[in-house]
Amino acid sequence: MSAIVLIGAQWGDEGKGRATDLLGSRVDYVVKFNGGNNAGHTVVIGEEKYALHLLPSGILTPGVTPVISNGVVIDLEVLFEEIDALEARGVDTSRLRISSNAHVITAYHRVLDKVTERFLGKRQIGTTGRGIGPAYADKINRVGVRIQDLFDDKILRQKVEGALDQKNQLLVKVYNRRAIEVDEVVENLLSFRERLRPHVCDTVHELNSALDAGKTVLFEGGQATMLDIDHGTYPFVTSSSATAGGASTGSGVAPNRIKRVIAVTKAYTTRVGAGPFPTELFDEDGDFLRNTGHEFGTTTGRPRRCGWYDAPISRYAAVVNGVTDFVLTKLDVLTGLEQIPVCVAYEVDGVRRDELPDSQSDFHHAKPIYEYLPGWTEDITSARKLEDLPANCQAYVKFIESISGARISAIGVGPEREQVISVHDLLED
Ligand code: GDP
Ligand code: IMO
Ligand code: MG
Repeated sequence: MSAIVLIGAQWGDEGKGRATDLLGSRVDYVVKFNGGNNAGHTVVIGEEKYALHLLPSGILTPGVTPVISNGVVIDLEVLFEEIDALEARGVDTSRLRISSNAHVITAYHRVLDKVTERFLGKRQIGTTGRGIGPAYADKINRVGVRIQDLFDDKILRQKVEGALDQKNQLLVKVYNRRAIEVDEVVENLLSFRERLRPHVCDTVHELNSALDAGKTVLFEGGQATMLDIDHGTYPFVTSSSATAGGASTGSGVAPNRIKRVIAVTKAYTTRVGAGPFPTELFDEDGDFLRNTGHEFGTTTGRPRRCGWYDAPISRYAAVVNGVTDFVLTKLDVLTGLEQIPVCVAYEVDGVRRDELPDSQSDFHHAKPIYEYLPGWTEDITSARKLEDLPANCQAYVKFIESISGARISAIGVGPEREQVISVHDLLED
């Protein structure tokens, strides 16, 4: 097996970090190819719980080389805080490779993220406030600062000056905020230079050479399909390519080297921040999912919006990502429900729609059409084979698989490393 992509099928927090950890030492590289510290991946190993934001989850597996590739935006302060915290817990981070072409998030991106959200008022997106959107906007506008710029004093100053010339006008005149000093930003960035130096390399070359040598490279997506800048519920999305295609542009590894696309999906649905969500629940069932599933953000602590499983979204994710395998997580959370609704299609203005409407207004109006499956009461957290699951639970999994567009190859029945049912090997055909 050569290159494998693992992405979220829904609106994030599907358990991607946990699924990456599942593949553990069977992969040689784990690459973060999009997003930044808007991501929050929780991995539970025995008594230890890790919350990762900027580092790929593979960093927790000894022998795996973690890579932050060109598609990522890096807040250096957060990066080194995270590295220090892991080192303090005995995790070796020395193998970390960082692309010289990745962009940096600076103080002005963080400020702009917060003030633009405030300015949007009722129309706000509910971003994580980490400066992600403004940093990607600078990249696309060709005024971004890249990791390699930190190794050239003159270029770095020129770039920060150029960016601040315009941004300070905006900050002072439109948003009524104080101007940001060039020196302040440059000094802050340079303070990380020497710590950064041993990690920086040509990750395109490193990853392609590794693949040539028969190594296995896992691309771990941040965010998810429905938050993708092109394919998500725009404008209520993040600013990067969170779908499988993003793994290629975000790393310089060609699409034809990718042999498998694993999509992680919860047995129900959650979303953080604003935007349409057809199966969202506002009643005690929503509270049940939130409390039983501990659905509070890893990054911002916000309560996650909760709803039932949405098969049109899975089918859409299967198509846009070329999903070969689903990892179904948090099945244990549904234990105890008398019946479980599954959204099989939508009704939009009186018409049944089996697929996702491509018009945002139609998606806003989409009402779920449910099929109701009988629930189960037995504890499933110690199930390790499909046959260990109660009959109704097996039927739920089979039903979801039959309408979601790809096979289900692994099932999470609890947050811990071993709380999983393996149905098909995720790395072998
Ligand atoms: P990510 O952003 O996709 O990596 O997901 P998060 O880490 O933000 O959220 C997923 C949460 O679900 C984490 O707290 C995981 O520990 C937890 N989790 C993952 N798989 C399972 C599962 O099968 N059962 C239960 N109960 N929790 C799970
Ligand atoms: P992981 O990788 C869930 C959401 C934010 C907001 C929108 C834009 O843990 O699944 P941004 O700060 O990216 O500009 O915010 O995207 N969002 C996430 N929601 N999980 C995430 O990451 C998210 N990253 C961003 O809540 O609605
Ligand atoms: Mg998360």
